[in-house]
Amino acid sequence: MHGSAMMHIGTLLVIFLHYDLMCSLKDDVKRITAKEGNTVTLQPEVHALEIDAQILWSFNQNSKDPKIVNSQVFKGEINTEYSGRLKDRLLLDRNTGSLTIRNITTRESGIYRLHIISERISYWHFNCTVYAPVSAPNISRGHSHSNTKTAKSRTWSGAETQSSSNTSCQVLCSAKNDRQVSLSWFRANQLISQTSSPDVNTTLSLRLDIDEKDNTVYSCVSANPVSNDTTYLNITVMCMNQKDPSMSKRQYPIFLLPLGLSATIAIVAVGMCVKKKREYNISRSTGGHPSD
Ligand SMILES: *[C@@H]1O[C@H](CO)[C@@H](O)[C@H](O)[C@H]1NC(C)=O
Ligand SMILES: *[C@@H]1O[C@H](CO)[C@@H](O)[C@H](O)[C@H]1NC(C)=O
Ligand SMILES: *[C@@H]1O[C@H](CO)[C@@H](O)[C@H](O)[C@H]1NC(C)=O
Ligand SMILES: *[C@@H]1O[C@H](CO)[C@@H](O)[C@H](O)[C@H]1NC(C)=O
Ligand SMILES: *[C@@H]1O[C@H](CO)[C@@H](O)[C@H](O)[C@H]1NC(C)=O
Ligand SMILES: *[C@@H]1O[C@H](CO)[C@@H](O)[C@H](O)[C@H]1NC(C)=O
Ligand SMILES: *[C@@H]1O[C@H](CO)[C@@H](O)[C@H](O)[C@H]1NC(C)=O
Repeated sequence: MHGSAMMHIGTLLVIFLHYDLMCSLKDDVKRITAKEGNTVTLQPEVHALEIDAQILWSFNQNSKDPKIVNSQVFKGEINTEYSGRLKDRLLLDRNTGSLTIRNITTRESGIYRLHIISERISYWHFNCTVYAPVSAPNISRGHSHSNTKTAKSRTWSGAETQSSSNTSCQVLCSAKNDRQVSLSWFRANQLISQTSSPDVNTTLSLRLDIDEKDNTVYSCVSANPVSNDTTYLNITVMCMNQKDPSMSKRQYPIFLLPLGLSATIAIVAVGMCVKKKREYNISRSTGGHPSD
């Protein structure tokens, strides 16, 4: 009895695996995009589901144990088994065949297959991609070394007088990379630069050269298909105190000031001494005469 039921299931498995191969030629994949931690429902378009149909859900066919749901009616009783790592977060709707996954994680990205077996076998598959929310962009000061380069290029462009009055400032926006993350600079809601990388282990970063006196709103945005995060640039904080090499050179005379002052005093003192000595000599030579 139990054995014959197993054989029956075995035959069906052979049938639907074969059916799989035939179907994969005319692939009809439903794309699902989900945010980590959310609840996702994989919904086949089923019109009328036979009350005694067997419903099978599997995840990542090539894994060791792809079966995640097996629901069948035996002697008028519904028996639904959930299995695998996902089992505590799954819920099958027997009326529609749809599967709900609670608190989905990025590891649950992949192909979900559904087979509904009644008088005939119906087959669906879903390509589910789960994204973690993007990390917030971080704005920091650019390197002063690159700052010098910027100043030079400005000089080359011939705007020497302007570059001495305008202070350029370099800032760097960075964010942790992940699947399909892009990092962008916006100037008053207008995209001015963007970067992305297929290497998920890197940090994305994007430089920006701005004028210290520019009062436009700049923002750096990290985004993926399910989320985005914005950090606004505070030019006052990032640029006003930025150490510019030409600025520190200009500070040298201030440090030399006490030295210069004492040198002046010394010169004046020496001068006064010489003058006094001269006066003394004069008074001595003139004063000597009356006594003579
Ligand atoms: C969702 O799953 C994560 C681990 O994957 C866990 O830390 C968190 O507590 C879960 N949240 C809920 C609401 O179950
Ligand atoms: C699933 O979708 C992702 C992108 O959304 C794609 O890179 C991947 O190749 C798809 N997988 C299959 C088996 O279709
Ligand atoms: C942003 O970058 C600065 C400098 O690299 C670092 O000190 C700070 O901790 C970072 N902040 C965040 C939120 O990553
Ligand atoms: C200096 O600032 C003015 C006004 O903001 C701008 O028109 C000019 O292009 C700037 N010059 C340089 C060299 O950035
Ligand atoms: C990213 O880093 C992880 C662990 O550090 C490693 O297993 C994986 O192969 C790396 N991926 C790439 C594309 O370098
Ligand atoms: C950021 O996400 C919001 C919804 O959360 C969306 O309206 C907006 O268009 C997104 N912005 C970008 C630049 O992707
Ligand atoms: C920039 O930061 C300063 C100091 O924290 C603050 O006073 C100022 O309001 C900020 N400006 C903007 C545009 O947020």
